[in-house]
Amino acid sequence: EISATLDTPFPIPAGVYAQTVTQVEHYTDSLFRFRITRPDSFRFRSGEFVMIGLPNAEKPVFRAYSIASPSWDDEVEFYSIKVPDGPLTEHLQKLQVGDTVLMRRKPTGTLVNDALLPGKRLWMFATGTGVAPFASIIRDPETYEKFDDLILCHTCRTAGELTYSRELVESLKANPLIGEFAQQLTLYDTLTREDWPRMGRQTDLMASGKIFTDLGVPPINPETDRGMICGSMEMLADTKPALEGFGLEEGANNRPATFVVEKAFVS
Ligand code: A2P
Repeated sequence: EISATLDTPFPIPAGVYAQTVTQVEHYTDSLFRFRITRPDSFRFRSGEFVMIGLPNAEKPVFRAYSIASPSWDDEVEFYSIKVPDGPLTEHLQKLQVGDTVLMRRKPTGTLVNDALLPGKRLWMFATGTGVAPFASIIRDPETYEKFDDLILCHTCRTAGELTYSRELVESLKANPLIGEFAQQLTLYDTLTREDWPRMGRQTDLMASGKIFTDLGVPPINPETDRGMICGSMEMLADTKPALEGFGLEEGANNRPATFVVEKAFVS
């Protein structure tokens, strides 16, 4: 679309959008978010991911990134880790407003409303940058129409790593599209390596039942509760059986069920 007008050192490959960075915000030494312009023809479902890269090589490196913005937003937001020697993130972390980001045209993913049967309560389990797809989902009015209660569980090592989700949830109250639904959403944020009002891994807090007493809700029940999980491979490997232990079953786009899973990318 606008690629012809961009001043990039290498030609834009076929089949990708070349978009302009509109905002960059750094949270910690290792976490930041950035926003890019959105092509009119780019459509996605809240919770999906897309491949992104930089126009800094003849054959650019592309990596999967969850889209952190909702489908109604006129920009596209990403939440990223900074890896010192990461083939993409070592360059991405230096992004400035006005720079060009490449984005493949076709989004995909399983953390979407369509892959879940209707229910009363949606549990979103995230560790680290695994919160990114939920940043999209909790900004989508459709989620609040489908579920009465949304619980976003976000566990990190240290407090600075919770800033993104905490600021986002706080900002929703004033959001013209979501504000009226904001009381349906609860953020359950826990830390594992720094003092905090809520401590521990989500898996341990489910096993002990503390997460349910803290939140004042009954234990997860397949009649009423739905789950989405996004974190490291180890986190998924431990959280999946925990949900299965409550009687939930894994679904997919073509076979909706009671929970869905996606690994957090670039970890
Ligand atoms: P912990 O500090 O006990 O390892 P990481 O940066 O390693 O991906 O971890 C992000 C957060 O996820 C940390 O709070 C970490 O807790 C937690 N975590 C790591 N592995 C698991 C797991 N297998 N199940 C649940 N939580 C996990």
